[in-house]
Amino acid sequence: MEVFEVHGGARLCGRVAVAGAKNSVLKLMAATLLAPGESTITGVPDILDVHIMAELLRRLGAQVTFRADIGELTIDVPEHIGHQADYDLVRQMRASIAILGPLVARVGVADVALPGGDAIGSRGLDMHMAGLEAMGASFTSDHGYLIAAAPKGLHGAAMVLDFPSVGATENLLMAAVLAHGQSVIDNAAREPEIVDLGEMLIAMGAQIEGLGTSTIAVTGVSVLHPVVHATVPDRIVAGTWAVMAALTGGDITIDHAEASHLEIALDKLTDAGAYVEHQQGGFRVRMDRAPKAVDVATFPYPGFPTDLQPQFITLNAVAAGASMVTENLFEARFRFVQELLRLGADVRIDGHHAFVQGPRRLAGAAVQATDVRAGVALVMAGLVAEGVTTVSDIHHIDRGYAGLAATLTDLGASIERVTLTDVDLRAGNRQPVHL
Ligand code: UD1
Repeated sequence: MEVFEVHGGARLCGRVAVAGAKNSVLKLMAATLLAPGESTITGVPDILDVHIMAELLRRLGAQVTFRADIGELTIDVPEHIGHQADYDLVRQMRASIAILGPLVARVGVADVALPGGDAIGSRGLDMHMAGLEAMGASFTSDHGYLIAAAPKGLHGAAMVLDFPSVGATENLLMAAVLAHGQSVIDNAAREPEIVDLGEMLIAMGAQIEGLGTSTIAVTGVSVLHPVVHATVPDRIVAGTWAVMAALTGGDITIDHAEASHLEIALDKLTDAGAYVEHQQGGFRVRMDRAPKAVDVATFPYPGFPTDLQPQFITLNAVAAGASMVTENLFEARFRFVQELLRLGADVRIDGHHAFVQGPRRLAGAAVQATDVRAGVALVMAGLVAEGVTTVSDIHHIDRGYAGLAATLTDLGASIERVTLTDVDLRAGNRQPVHL
């Protein structure tokens, strides 16, 4: 088992370049299934989830080549593709469900194992299914597989989502582009990753209006063609670096980042006392004083992102004052607070609110990552804790942050990726041994 061993105390200073968004690229990969031929996606991060999705596409018959050194993915989709997404892959990554819409639209059938992924709440599929049903698909389930069938093809439909779900909007959009006739998705999600997906689909020949608004209108076309597409920068990774700068009293210039995708989060950092400077192709965040605690409530975009909530709890734990963090999207996202308490944070959970009292001087301890963002938030806590923090289950962090330890080291942090031996694990010793 590998862990991150973090020595607290460094001020992070320097430059980082952000790759394409995990939450976009996985859907862009799924979208290539809609058109036979070779598509190319650039700006692809070398993270575990990309490799899982690549394997999923290979099993459907696509040839996938990932040049991680230049972040370029080529996906050659055959005329005839499979329709089954196996449990061993889907259970590792909930975003596998993004192939549901493209498969039903292109093949008329999809067998997708019911997903796993981050342990951050129940994350139903009801809106995905209701929308596809409105377009003519029917669903059955069999031995843990969800089976969608539309033998006569999909037709356009008017759909109103109960909630602006990112995944449901994406699946329905990818299905509607090849459905017969007009579709309207109301109460659609407006995330930059949806706009990115929609722009790629338009470049493939789709007819879509209203991207980035709550009403997306699609006129179905009969065929799409392959494309070359650059992935939108990862706003969550960019936002994570921004919080790290504020947390450590540092100064980080974040290149290849879109500040306008992070408006509320950057405003919150300013409230916390940081200076945010917009620059060509990115922005700079620096902090020259002790941070002040800030209240945060997560909402669908353009609201404050749930994927930055744990990082802000860490910031608030060491910031001066009392704060309330409200989680409106994923009920289990506060699970990581238990781990933060081990480092000495003062956080009380009441329903979907976390009450944080700072400033607390954190002290290093062994903690466990419970999901990708929680994991990075614990590494961040380690950066400002006294002594050594050991973060385990870092495979969660690998799902979203490529080369985290190396980049942190370049910025001045003391962090190492080390392996615990079987002997240590059997002995219950979670402190790492350097190999
Ligand atoms: C995506 C992101 C995730 C981010 C989230 C919200 C990916 C791979 N993941 O997840 O990082 O935190 O958006 O910005 O892109 N829901 C239902 N029924 C449905 C669909 C969703 O009840 O049919 C619920 C979920 O349980 C959850 C909420 O809606 O409580 C939000 O889910 P959704 O917006 O769909 O998020 P994801 O696409 O899963």
